Amino acid sequence: MLHGRSRRAYARWAIGLLAPGIDEDVLEIGCASGYALGLIAPAARGRIVGIDRSAVLLRIAEGHLRRVGGAARTTLICAAEDDLPSFDVAFEKVLAINVWPFRSESVRVLDILRVRLAPGGRIAVAVRAPRRAAPATAQALGAEIARALETAGFGRIEAHLSDRVGGRRCVCVTACRAGASRP
Ligand SMILES: C[S@@+](CC[C@H](N)C(=O)[O-])C[C@H]1O[C@@H](n2cnc3c(N)ncnc32)[C@H](O)[C@@H]1O
Repeated sequence: MLHGRSRRAYARWAIGLLAPGIDEDVLEIGCASGYALGLIAPAARGRIVGIDRSAVLLRIAEGHLRRVGGAARTTLICAAEDDLPSFDVAFEKVLAINVWPFRSESVRVLDILRVRLAPGGRIAVAVRAPRRAAPATAQALGAEIARALETAGFGRIEAHLSDRVGGRRCVCVTACRAGASRP
């Protein structure tokens, strides 16, 4: 199956923590075959954008979104997350699931993402710890992501840990760009 059960549970968990509203503009970085976008886009009235550097995965995402009914709302862009095109919207929500491997340049990339957020907008960075990882491993990952978000200028940082999502320990760190959110 393209999107395994544990990955689906994990994406749902991260999206629940990000809590995108139906009128909000949402950007997903590293959207791959579009599973998370497919959970957000069908009910959305805002603009939904998915970015991935793999054109092959984006074609799969396109088909997936057509099947689940989110294609009309969604723009898929083939780009690297540190070389984003310009957008005519500031996003209220940014989602990054399992793309923490950009961690070697995490602060620089998170800073780029921060300025794409509207004031008060929120990012969620979710990572699955390796199989059979100890609780401390997930905690350390959460702390590493939280530190990078803080250095990149985010506030209201919260690390959420779970050892029950799809049988793996997961961490999802949420943070906000300073400023008042839109009414
Ligand atoms: C491990 S997959 C995660 C996919 C999806 N978010 C999920 O959790 O199912 C990482 C995805 O990020 C994309 N990716 C990795 N580095 C990237 C970069 N520098 N810019 C844009 N996309 C990138 C890869 O092509 C891949 O689709």
